[in-house]
Amino acid sequence: MKLCVIPGDGIGHEVVPVAVGVLQAVLPGLQLVFADAGWEEFCRNGKALPERTLAAARECGAVFFGAVSSPMQLVEGYRSPIVQLRRELGCHANIRPTLSLPLASSRSGIDLIIVRENTEDLYVGDEQSDGEVAVAIKRITRKASLRVARSAFELARNAGRQRITIIHKANILPRTDGLFRDCAREVAQDYPEIAVDEMLVDTAAMRLAQAPESFDMLLAPNLYGDILSDLVAAFGGGLGLAPSLNLGVAAAIAEPVHGSAPDIAGQGIANPLAAILSAAMLLRVWWQRPELALRIEQAVRTTLLDGIATPDVMSPGVSTQHLARVVIERIRLQQD
Ligand code: NAI
Ligand code: MG
Repeated sequence: MKLCVIPGDGIGHEVVPVAVGVLQAVLPGLQLVFADAGWEEFCRNGKALPERTLAAARECGAVFFGAVSSPMQLVEGYRSPIVQLRRELGCHANIRPTLSLPLASSRSGIDLIIVRENTEDLYVGDEQSDGEVAVAIKRITRKASLRVARSAFELARNAGRQRITIIHKANILPRTDGLFRDCAREVAQDYPEIAVDEMLVDTAAMRLAQAPESFDMLLAPNLYGDILSDLVAAFGGGLGLAPSLNLGVAAAIAEPVHGSAPDIAGQGIANPLAAILSAAMLLRVWWQRPELALRIEQAVRTTLLDGIATPDVMSPGVSTQHLARVVIERIRLQQD
């Protein structure tokens, strides 16, 4: 089994080695291939996603990606490498679960999954401006919409989920969002055991803030999925605990939802649990080893129950390394 490891920038350097250490604790034979991508790599070599990184990712199929920094203004030649990597590897579905955790900052009763289309919408990056008028292309295709819907319904079936809510804004965007919605409804016909409803994205934002426990699964185009999943992550304890998996046919990329967190990078206090839980998703969904994923998730849960966590969710909190040691020790104890 091979894993391409791309720490990226900022706290990626801190949380990725920890998550990889956890994976090795349950999969001792795992082979690692390290590769670079991100802003630091762009500053060093002029490419945010070097060819050799892409080749390593393709060869391994399984990828662990930390986070990258992207400047807030246009930098000639720079595009976010994770967006490109998802597209190049054909990882068309981004799966973002939120689960209540034993933490003061987590709301109880939540167990939902957002499936986000990962390859198109406004993220195709086709923007133009003459200084007076700026235009961005929102591209929605039948092919990508059917594909992500199929993945969402398969996931729902395998995970025993009851209901999928399709998110859109088809009252304003009937051609683009309407197409996405119609494709999802078309696929839904093959899954009669799963209930389907739909909701406008703004209404969904309010309902998610009010009653997140009333949702089961949400299926959304790229941008809405990105925004709603960060909103929901707050209920799971914050970005430091929000995992994700980018899923394709030939590859999968485990990736914590958070970014490079420059405000805390280098301080040794980044929460590694989002990365660790992303590793568990790779085990469950990609490598089909749910029993190993469960071991990791149980070790995380009991660690939190004992009040051991980083300062973003616990005061005073422990360091990244301390938390990593505790989680790995618990995984080892389960095995004995
Ligand atoms: P961010 O997710 O990096 O940080 C937001 C806030 O959450 C910060 O206060 C940060 O300290 C905190 N936080 C995030 N992850 C944490 C963790 N594991 N432990 C403890 N606290 C954590 O988002 P922000 O600040 O908007 O963006 C920073 C950089 O990250 C930008 O350059 C942005 O482009 C990039 N970014 C990259 C992503 C990716 O690689 N997939 C996703 C989101 C942002
Ligand atoms: Mg985001």
